[in-house]
Amino acid sequence: MSNKIFLSPPYICGNEMEYVKQVFESNYLAPVGEFIDKFEKSVCNYTGAKYAVAVSSGTAAIHLAVRVLGIKEGDYVLASTFTFIGSVAPILYQKANPIFIDSDYKSWNMDPNLLEDAVKDLRKKNIKPKALILTHLYGQPADMDSIVEICNKYEIILIEDAAESLGATFKEKHTGTFGKAGIYSFNGNKIITTSGGGMLVTDDEWIAKKARFYSTQAKEDELWYEHKEYGYNYRMSNVLAAIGLGQLETIDFRIKKRRETFKNYKKLLSDISEIEFMPELEHARGNRWLTTLIFHNQDPFEIVKRMQESGIETRPLWKPMHLQPVFEGCLFYSNGVSENLFKKGICLPSGTELKYDDVSRISEKIKGSIDA
Ligand SMILES: Cc1ncc(COP(=O)(O)O)c(C=O)c1O
Repeated sequence: MSNKIFLSPPYICGNEMEYVKQVFESNYLAPVGEFIDKFEKSVCNYTGAKYAVAVSSGTAAIHLAVRVLGIKEGDYVLASTFTFIGSVAPILYQKANPIFIDSDYKSWNMDPNLLEDAVKDLRKKNIKPKALILTHLYGQPADMDSIVEICNKYEIILIEDAAESLGATFKEKHTGTFGKAGIYSFNGNKIITTSGGGMLVTDDEWIAKKARFYSTQAKEDELWYEHKEYGYNYRMSNVLAAIGLGQLETIDFRIKKRRETFKNYKKLLSDISEIEFMPELEHARGNRWLTTLIFHNQDPFEIVKRMQESGIETRPLWKPMHLQPVFEGCLFYSNGVSENLFKKGICLPSGTELKYDDVSRISEKIKGSIDA
């Protein structure tokens, strides 16, 4: 279908091609080169993080964070249940145990009250979680005042999964920069993309150094190949970093566009009384990576199918991790919120290139797809 509308396709509008050309001219088609350094520095300048390590995916960045921060076999790691699997699979890579925490309706992100109740309950059971992997869902920041306070109080290492939320802030501080380490994803559907890629950010030089070391096969600083530990081949290519740098230069425009798209959906769908959009907390400014909403009296899976027939890609909300067969038997603290959101919600097309006319067409189709 020629006029198919995708959920969040890549968008190119800056120096990407020019920078890739420079990579070809330099012959550095390799996981080293000046564009990797430039891209890392630019992410630091933009987010305020002191150090950045560019890698092959957001999942790889989370894996490096948990490995560097000492998560190992038998450890317990708290995590958002309402998220994408890449956020939490690295807990399994380390043979550690995830403990899932549910969301609240105020933010759709992790419920801080439930988190604290869980930590207290776990202590009674003699379980002391080492770390927390917190997701800022769909580009909207979680309640960072409360989450940071709880992590400090109970000595839990905070790792932020800001895969979807590059550019989103809480009290003007960038998501990804509140904890010991944060990560961003540059997967094809993200607000900026390198086709596939990710970045770990931290203010701790040692963490950055270790992450870089593990991302390049844990090679010791010798003339020959010396290995006292094993690592991974996770480094980003210079070609992809060139694309990333070009994309990052236009991030403000991208966020502005996505926030406008959200506002337009809100206006155009305002006459459907039974819908609710993902909220934004006070003090938070999300990047509205995806506009998401719930219907109170519709089957969202049916709507996704009907929209597909019209050439419009929408998607159900993330299925919570505690409901995934792969995590059967894992501990979880649930209040029913994420399960309810999953049963009711969808993500709407939100690509940077989306025009008002597209948003209008999509909104009309949504109205035509709901049961009276
Ligand atoms: C919340 C979340 N966490 C982690 C990831 C993993 O990132 P990647 O696909 O770059 O591995 C993604 C995205 O794909 C994501 O949406």
